[in-house]
Amino acid sequence: MTDADLEAGRRLMAKLDAFAAFTDEPGRLTRLFLSDAHAKAARAFIGWCGEAGLEARIDAAGNVVARYEGKLAGAPALMIGSHIDTVRDAGRYDGNYGALAALAVVEHLAARRERLDHAIEIVAFGDEEGVRFKTTLTGSRALAGTYPEEALDQRDADGILMREALTAFGGDPDRAASLRARNVAAFVEAHIEQGPVLEAEGLPLGIVTAINGATRLEVGVGGVAGHAGTTPMNLRRDALTAAAEMALAVEARARGEADLVGTVGRFDVQPGAVNVIPGHVQFSIDLRSPDDARRVKAAADIEAGLSAVAAARKVGVRIERAHDANAYACDPGVVAGIARAVEAVGVPPRRLPSGAGHDTMAMGRLCPAGMLFVRCKDGISHNPLESITVEDCAMGLEALTLFARNFSAS
Ligand code: GLV
Ligand code: MN
Ligand code: MN
Repeated sequence: MTDADLEAGRRLMAKLDAFAAFTDEPGRLTRLFLSDAHAKAARAFIGWCGEAGLEARIDAAGNVVARYEGKLAGAPALMIGSHIDTVRDAGRYDGNYGALAALAVVEHLAARRERLDHAIEIVAFGDEEGVRFKTTLTGSRALAGTYPEEALDQRDADGILMREALTAFGGDPDRAASLRARNVAAFVEAHIEQGPVLEAEGLPLGIVTAINGATRLEVGVGGVAGHAGTTPMNLRRDALTAAAEMALAVEARARGEADLVGTVGRFDVQPGAVNVIPGHVQFSIDLRSPDDARRVKAAADIEAGLSAVAAARKVGVRIERAHDANAYACDPGVVAGIARAVEAVGVPPRRLPSGAGHDTMAMGRLCPAGMLFVRCKDGISHNPLESITVEDCAMGLEALTLFARNFSAS
């Protein structure tokens, strides 16, 4: 790696640090889709694009997009990007690394007045985590032409309609479904690995072969709230103990099958008082697998298992399908191109699957798509302890730039 490459990595790290200041919660990084912090981050991104001579804008679905023309105006584009929304109490690299690295690729080319045979389009997707609204990947799904229009009618926990939040953000709900990107030859996303494989093997970079499919269920359990002192144990219909048994059933089903993972990540107990038997519990289930048929079967088994627990405990259960994304096998041509770039920066080309979901799985419906992984410390992600080194940051950027430069749209 040259000094200039390392310096570019330092600049990218500094931008990532500055970007982490855009948060909805003081003291920790939480930047939910269409929030004030997301709007401020989008404006900062647009400003940085402007410094590189790019005219960026917010599109109808709430993505920030910009185009760097090739030698000939109107040439097919290589699209590069990732997301800038985060989970609650997030690390600063998940998504943000890939969005700002995309910008850094263009900064590098623009600083040299270097035009390629293809255009580069950069995108900072807004909705990858699905924390605020249940249906997710709406930004990438809009560009892929698979926008889930019903998502606009979702409400967040405060009752705010996604349609209204999108309008306030500068998007256009009426046009989001017809946004489909045109003339995009391929999509590539750089992202931290969010797992421990690369670190364990002493490798700074990896090439993603496939992304696990995911199903998210939203479960409501209805019992009867009552006095904690006066209601005998055998006469209770406790929504929390029923929901706890359901969560254990999810864990047991996921444990029973290789590569299937199941998580109950959110649990809301009502009314939530020390002396009241819980009357209602709302919780989430997140199921992932590299095998779509197995994931679908597991979801069906879990739904049946939850209904059995509800019947035995005489509580009601309502299960909604909040999100379904099939596994995506990355495009072999893009995978090969990323592998060549990784080798060219001096790293053995380690191919690995992604357990986490990514915008790439939606973009793969539009065009050939693939991903570059960058090692992260201890494999930790969705956690403020998320960490990468400046050297790895720089090496990822170098490989991404090389991929963009060597890409051929034909
Ligand atoms: C996104 O981070 C996901 O995989 O849930
Ligand atoms: Mn991510
Ligand atoms: Mn994430």
